[in-house]
Amino acid sequence: MKMLTDKFGRQITYLRLAITDRCNLRCQYCMPAHGIDIVDRKDLLTYKEMYRITRVLSELGVNKVRLTGGEPFVRKDFIHFLETLSFNDKLDQINITTNGALISKHISKLETLGIHAVNLSLDTLKADKFKQITRRDVFEETIQTLDKLLASKLTIKLNVVILPGVNTNEIASFIELTKNKDIAVRFIEEMPFNGTGLRKTDEVWNLDKIYAEIQKSYKNIIPLVDKKSSTSKNFKIDGYTGSFGIIPAFTRTICHDCNRIRITATGLFKNCLFDDGVFNIRDFIRNGASDDELKELFIKTVQQKPINGFVAEANRKNKKVSESMSTIGG
Ligand code: GTP
Ligand code: 5AD
Ligand code: SF4
Repeated sequence: MKMLTDKFGRQITYLRLAITDRCNLRCQYCMPAHGIDIVDRKDLLTYKEMYRITRVLSELGVNKVRLTGGEPFVRKDFIHFLETLSFNDKLDQINITTNGALISKHISKLETLGIHAVNLSLDTLKADKFKQITRRDVFEETIQTLDKLLASKLTIKLNVVILPGVNTNEIASFIELTKNKDIAVRFIEEMPFNGTGLRKTDEVWNLDKIYAEIQKSYKNIIPLVDKKSSTSKNFKIDGYTGSFGIIPAFTRTICHDCNRIRITATGLFKNCLFDDGVFNIRDFIRNGASDDELKELFIKTVQQKPINGFVAEANRKNKKVSESMSTIGG
């Protein structure tokens, strides 16, 4: 079987597929208060196109798919799409990244469908702060989802974007969640993907600073062996059930064994989170491309994958990194 391998020998096995560019929240670190310019519905990949792209990529060795957004559950019939995708026996894992506000009623269905893991975005454990960060009043619904996820068989990770002066005083509270719960809490370096490209730089919280902050409260931190291509550096507190991690998303020290590609909701193929897109698969498919032509294109395009996110950023035609994460899919 032909595989997707880049010129640095990294094998691509992980697809991040954005279901939509729409979102029900307006997180400060992701978009401005008025939202982003969403694309016309006709410009979004159809579920049939997404199914085909995933099938073709799975025939080239992709065995893990993460469905992102925007918020994937905002798109009509998403659950039905999950069901269809779950019939692809070449996929070992179908995972979802969600803000959780719309899905507490779907958790048991996700279990039935064999979804492997859900990464839940939650940046605060306080209702008022939640409203301030997300500009929406849906804290209770999100916590309900968290509780249901914890009671399910699904693997759960909590994604916490570190926002200087906003939630940095809650880091220990998040770690306390791991005391009796089988959950991985991951603190994420903020990136400038917020629709403006501006990022507060007076107080930068990178991996080292986040770790140093944790050390102030905990003396018994045990480093864990990270899975290959993990985005996070992982640890646990001695005696605690769960674990915690730090994702150096902005300092980009994880690129050496990067195994992923991205496809945005409009079909833009991205070799790296920090590039500005290589080509549009939607147009290629709508112009009648065959599976073999698609495969050839994927194999060729992955050859252009930059060695790391800094090179990807430097090579952008549109120099400034400013898209909303809701457009890219994270
Ligand atoms: P797992 O599959 O569970 O390891 O999840 P993940 O960390 O790959 O994905 P998730 O959607 O939960 O993303 C968590 C954070 O990591 C988000 O802020 C993403 O933007 C960031 N992230 C995910 N993949 C990459 C990557 O390839 N490079 C960088 N720099 N950040 C990434
Ligand atoms: N910086 C870091 N992480 C971000 N996310 C969204 N925007 C940003 C940003 N500017 C995270 C979300 C979600 C994941 C897909 O990306 O919290 O968990
Ligand atoms: Fe991969 Fe780019 Fe992320 Fe580095 S920054 S891990 S190369 S996607």
